[in-house]
Amino acid sequence: MTILKGQDVLSVAQFDKALIGDVFGRARQMRQMVETEGRSDLLKPFVLALIFYEPSTRTASSFIAAMQRLGGGVIPITGGVQFSSVSKGETLGDTMRVLEQYADVIVMRHPEKGAAEQAAAAATVPVINAGDGVGEHPTQALLDLFTIEEELGRIDGLNVAMIGDLRFGRTVHSLTRLLSLYDVNLRFVSPEILRLPLTLMNGVRDAGLNVRECHDVAEVIASADVLYVTRVQKERFSDLAQYDEVKNYYRITPDLMAQAQEKMIVMHPLPRVGEIEPTIDSDPRAAYFRQVRNGMFIRMSLLASVLGATV
Ligand code: NCD
Repeated sequence: MTILKGQDVLSVAQFDKALIGDVFGRARQMRQMVETEGRSDLLKPFVLALIFYEPSTRTASSFIAAMQRLGGGVIPITGGVQFSSVSKGETLGDTMRVLEQYADVIVMRHPEKGAAEQAAAAATVPVINAGDGVGEHPTQALLDLFTIEEELGRIDGLNVAMIGDLRFGRTVHSLTRLLSLYDVNLRFVSPEILRLPLTLMNGVRDAGLNVRECHDVAEVIASADVLYVTRVQKERFSDLAQYDEVKNYYRITPDLMAQAQEKMIVMHPLPRVGEIEPTIDSDPRAAYFRQVRNGMFIRMSLLASVLGATV
């Protein structure tokens, strides 16, 4: 029994340190299970419906893998909503009310901020937000934080630099909120038009964190314990000329990495579109593929908790 049983997962605001510790502990048990047994029957009685109104590779497949590794069933609606009744004009509420007739939990991605809350209000089964526009991406933030703790052994005291599209990047928004619970130094590196939204900036300042903004990765590289790199979110720009101006603003190169600490990590929620040179992949500090794997363990942990099954 955990406090997430039967609950929606919509925002990182639902998580405090104790609950995060609980989710992480269970994620470690899941990793242990996967490494020894490969899969279990823990969620055998349950079915997950996954509906994605926006493209995804990792988030969709990691939720599917998570459910399958725990023996559960999956209804994947990821081929684009053109194949579902949404294209016939069905409301979000009706889609939820239908899916819950088949499934015990619904995972949804949607282009509109706030859509996850709307879906959760209509559904009687738990809804997990897998990204709502420029809003939140709570399960990504949990796996990001988990990766930091796994890789560096702690969270408090770290220098975390977030780089790229801080304005539209929902993973940045959720991770920034989650990190406000800890004693970290935050550096935000972006072009002027992609600065972190003011409400989020005020939030971290109010939480008492040491925060600084700048435009150049070179200013933060030497002191960073975590370099959290993100893609410029092309799909969120109404003016593509503006996107073109900032799309190649920064690039993590071997030269830049030569200035970084020996023990630090480079993270990226992926997909990357040129922000990190592929030659960095063989650097042991490149943590982004390990981060992907952690995503499966975190989602296994969350699904087990929400469905009230424990290991
Ligand atoms: C991110 C997303 O969808 O917000 N991808 C992911 O879930 N790993 C990041 C992105 O699309 O840039």
